[in-house]
This record gives sequence, C-alpha cells and structure tokens, in this order.
Amino acid sequence: MEKDIAIKAQNLCKHFGEGESRVNVLEDASFEIHKGELVALVAPSGAGKTTLLMMLGCVTDPTSGKIWLGKKIVWDEKRWSIKDPRRIRREQIGFIFQAHYLIPFLNVIENVVLLPETNDIPQEKTRQKAMELLEYFGIAEKANAMPSQLSGGQNQRVAIARALANTPQIVLADEPTAALDIQRSVDVMKMLKKIAKEQNVAIIMVTHDERMLPYCDRVMSIENRTVKFKDMRHEKVI
Ligand SMILES: Nc1ncnc2c1ncn2[C@@H]1O[C@H](COP(=O)(O)OP(=O)(O)OP(=O)(O)O)[C@@H](O)[C@H]1O
Ligand SMILES: [Mg+2]
Repeated sequence: MEKDIAIKAQNLCKHFGEGESRVNVLEDASFEIHKGELVALVAPSGAGKTTLLMMLGCVTDPTSGKIWLGKKIVWDEKRWSIKDPRRIRREQIGFIFQAHYLIPFLNVIENVVLLPETNDIPQEKTRQKAMELLEYFGIAEKANAMPSQLSGGQNQRVAIARALANTPQIVLADEPTAALDIQRSVDVMKMLKKIAKEQNVAIIMVTHDERMLPYCDRVMSIENRTVKFKDMRHEKVI
C-alpha cells in the first residue's frame, strides 16, 4: 500500500486565550495521514475539529508543535516556516464546507474556476479541468446554471468540484454531508473515496453521522485533547 505522507503533526498544541478564559483544545497531538486516505474526524461539539482542520489548512496558527504537508515542514513550533501560508492554502489544499458557499451571482463553471484563475493558471486550462470535474460528478449539463437553480446535493457536488479544481494534494472538509439526506450523503462519501484513491489525495472529513464512517479508511477522534485513530478498512461496508 502507498504510504506516502500527506500530513504529519508532531506534538501539536492549541489553546485559545490566557488565564481564566484559556481554552485548551489540543495537547501534544501527533499523527500521520497518508496520500490516498479518506479519514473521518469525529468528536463532540466544541472538541476542536474545525480548529484542527484550520491548523492543517494553514489558516489558524497552532500554539506549538510541528506540521508537515508532504515532505515540507510548514509550522515549526512558533511560526510558519514557509514564506506565504496563503499560497500553500491556495495551491495545495481544497476546502469543502457544510454551507457550501457557492458564490450566488456566479454560475456553476465560474464558481469552479475562480480559485485556479487567481493562481495564474491559464483560463483555457482551468475551464477544461473544471468541465472534466463537472462531468466526473455528473453535473456537466448544469455548467451554466446559477447555484439557486441547483438542488442541495448538486450544490454540494459543485463545491467538491471547486475544492478539486486546483488539483490539491489535501482536501479538508468540514461536515460536507450535514445538509444532505442519507442517500445523497452516501453518494458524496463514495465520491470522496473515489477521489482519494484515484487521485491519491488525502481527505480529512468532519462528520457527526456514524453511518458515514464505514466508507472511510480511518476514523480520527479527539479525546482528552489528543487524537486517536480507528482503522475501518477491515470493517464491513454497507
Ligand atoms: N477564535 C477562537 N477564540 C477563542 N476560542 C475559540 C476560537 N475558535 C474556537 N474556539 C474554542 O475552541 C474550542 C474548539 O472549537 P471548534 O470550533 O474547533 O470545535 P468543533 O469540534 O469544530 O465544534 P462543532 O462540532 O460545534 O463545529 C471551543 O471551545 C471553541 O469555543
Ligand atoms: Mg466545527
């Protein structure tokens, strides 16, 4: 099995505030996530799932510890060790959110090409890639539709296509199936799994829905401010 590391964290710590208002979120979390892996992230509300995703996505500063993306160290104890964390975020990471935030006044294809175009990739190339993604997700005929003309599931598929438009090595998804019914959620899970395997992308997905867990390779949970893993690859898929 491919064991290339996509994300590595060592002694990752995060707290917010100081003194009486201090909130400890993570203490000494160390883990590795491999390319091609679909990992679910589960924990009670307020346990730090979004905070962890945002640190791995180079959005939120950790308090201490180290983070590597691929072979490159990006956070080293007290600072970003890369010149421009925003650039890493734009070029290497795809984000999918629960409220999918398609831009309402841009049509489907315009939403998908927005980010690659800001990355200075030629327009023709980004359009071609975007159409391929829309075809892959079975929504190519909606390329010129506005987000308000799509169903919830179609909107979410566009949001996933958009997250993949910059050919990221890592996809971070915060409850991507929360607004969907069970059948649509299962469809999204199957899609994410396919992407992880076919494109060798590491995907971390926050979910509150236990029915989604059998579709993942591993389940990461936050317990007592550290992370634990459960391997799902030998469990039965429905
Ligand atoms: N910017 C911030 N300033 C202060 N505290 C924060 C900040 N962001 C998050 N927190 C606190 O950190 C803890 C973890 O929050 P986080 O949003 O990561 O939880 P979560 O697991 O994603 O929860 P949910 O399932 O409700 O989305 C919470 O106690 C929250 O109040
Ligand atoms: Mg959250």
